[in-house]
Amino acid sequence: MAEFVLPKNSRVLKGKTHSVKNNSGQVKKFKIYRYDGDGNPRLDEFEIDLANCGPMVLDALIKIKDETDSSLTFRRSCREGVCGSCSMNIDGTNTLACTKSISDIKGDVKVYPLPHMQVIKDLVVDMAYFYAQYASIEPWLKNNEKPPSKSERLQSIEDRKKLDGVYECILCACCSTACPSYWWNSDKFLGPAILLQAYRWLVDSRDSAKNERLDNLEDPFKLYRCHTILNCVKTCPKGLNPGQKIGEIKNMIVEKKSL
Ligand code: SF4
Ligand code: SF4
Ligand code: FES
Repeated sequence: MAEFVLPKNSRVLKGKTHSVKNNSGQVKKFKIYRYDGDGNPRLDEFEIDLANCGPMVLDALIKIKDETDSSLTFRRSCREGVCGSCSMNIDGTNTLACTKSISDIKGDVKVYPLPHMQVIKDLVVDMAYFYAQYASIEPWLKNNEKPPSKSERLQSIEDRKKLDGVYECILCACCSTACPSYWWNSDKFLGPAILLQAYRWLVDSRDSAKNERLDNLEDPFKLYRCHTILNCVKTCPKGLNPGQKIGEIKNMIVEKKSL
């Protein structure tokens, strides 16, 4: 059996402990990954009095930043599961800090950055390559014909329904960073989030570049590294099913070839 030894600087060390005094008795411990780009990462512990904190994990992170350690670094914006910026690994699952309820977590709350991504600082990972992959599928409407009405391309109700379960994706990357194929081949495999977005344009009745888009995806790595493990489905905080959409893209390629 192969044995691996972690490089010295990749070991997560025990960090600082911040206790809460004069509490209400409802104390929860948060263990949070910290890394400032130098030396080893560490796991800091923060006690939070839940009687003085909002219900979500993001509320606790904001409270820690406001009251205990202003250097704690994380992304957030909308605070209601719409912008996708607060994605991180909480209690062992990739999810959104703003929609993850503290009361759903038994024991200590462990908070890590999204796995297998380059950490910039604490819970902030480098999303540049993920966004470059998104750009590579050309996520915009391609249609050179003039719209039938002056300013609109209308859709039937049935055609519009094809975008349900797809348009809701907020590009949080929880799915891609939970996918073993993406962990090992993220340089070439597009991963579930980007493939779901590719599917979104393939089924848009207003788009006329379906064949060109399929040709662009037909590649041993970009698409076919998906082995239907379905971690992506399990983790998506919006309840979407990228694994199924990837299967449908594969079927579209087969259909196109049989024509
Ligand atoms: S179904 Fe495909 S994309 Fe989703 S986790 Fe599995 S390998 Fe990754
Ligand atoms: S499919 Fe779900 S998990 Fe993946 S990026 Fe979109 S919203 Fe996030
Ligand atoms: S802050 Fe926007 S999704 Fe969590």
